[in-house]
Amino acid sequence: MEKNFSLRELNTFGFDVKVKYFQEIKSLEDVYVLIENQYFKQHRDSNNFLILSGGSNILFKDDFYDGFVIYPNFKGIETIEENDDHIIIRCFGGEVWKDFVDYTVSRNLYGLENLSDIPGKVGAAPVQNIGAYGAEVKDVINQVHTIDLSSGEIKIFTNEECHFSYRNSIFKELKVKRGALSEREAAIGFYPLIFAVDFVLKKNGELKLDYGNIRNNLISKNITNPTIQDVAISVKEIRKEKLPEVGIVGSAGSFFQNAIVSMDKYLELKTSYPEMPSYPVNESEVKIPTGWLIDKAGWKGYRENHVGVWDRQALVLVHYGGGKPLEIIELMNKIQISVKERFGIEIKPEVNIVPDRISSRT
Ligand code: EPU
Repeated sequence: MEKNFSLRELNTFGFDVKVKYFQEIKSLEDVYVLIENQYFKQHRDSNNFLILSGGSNILFKDDFYDGFVIYPNFKGIETIEENDDHIIIRCFGGEVWKDFVDYTVSRNLYGLENLSDIPGKVGAAPVQNIGAYGAEVKDVINQVHTIDLSSGEIKIFTNEECHFSYRNSIFKELKVKRGALSEREAAIGFYPLIFAVDFVLKKNGELKLDYGNIRNNLISKNITNPTIQDVAISVKEIRKEKLPEVGIVGSAGSFFQNAIVSMDKYLELKTSYPEMPSYPVNESEVKIPTGWLIDKAGWKGYRENHVGVWDRQALVLVHYGGGKPLEIIELMNKIQISVKERFGIEIKPEVNIVPDRISSRT
């Protein structure tokens, strides 16, 4: 266990945040040791701990986190089942997401190509049901392997038990209380740490080309009959054009969630802004790209001291280096107020802001 550990290399915003206690976990044996650790027990029981994976979707509010960070780093990739139709691959949580996607693409397996180059690690992918270019990871997850940080019990969640929805799952709760668990487990509280994910990938599938610029990108290269590799390359090129490069410019990808509004609200806005892009959610709700709202409100490319709004995708807040997390929080507040005033929509962060309450240095 490390004390007063710097998370600078472990958050893609690149803030120099320190944490009181830090523990890397590489095996189930490490978990059994952890759950007997008195410092960990204290922090778990006061819900003052955090499971940190690739650090690509997190913002620490302060430059000191007065809690306990667990850093799971389980490695390995195994084939579990294979037939003429599909293959089930178990990937351990500490593997780098984009390397795992490249591996499946190189094996001509369908399902993850649209999710190429997303930063982060495999264990975090189910937590917020990562998605991009018309695909979501929930569509290829078979099951999720977890270990309870209070009892050490292993629980496997089927796809259905994960309760996936847009950028959400049961694992977003630190302590799983409802849903998939039995009453006994719910009563004692189950703290699921994801250590492996099983993916079911097709040997003959369909490519998703209809989202955004994928088709145009392929046409511009005269590709009429694309392979899985072609789609993965297109996605990487489109991402490069729009998003800041991880490790070069600090960011956590989309900072806000896209807005889901009522049909009435949508029709009202559409009258004032006929060019507004939107996607149907169901009969009564419509999704509006928050990037468009922020852009339209005039924030794209805005910069203030060490932080700003990315000039090619307004959904992304960036840290140019040398700044403090508070600067991002202040920028977030200003943008939220401005979008609310202009469109009457309350936009919510997609990034996990830690801690929920203000911590103090002890
Ligand atoms: N738009 C603007 N101005 C902007 C940004 C977007 O007008 O500054 C418009 C675009 O022209 C387009 C629409 O808004 O009509 C949607 O934009 P885009 O296709 O870039 O996608 P998004 O909805 O803004 C989502 C994900 C991204 C993912 C992309 C591509 C969320 C919160 N974000 O963004 O995910 O890469 O789709 O699939 O759902 C992430 O989660 O970190 C992330 C980058």
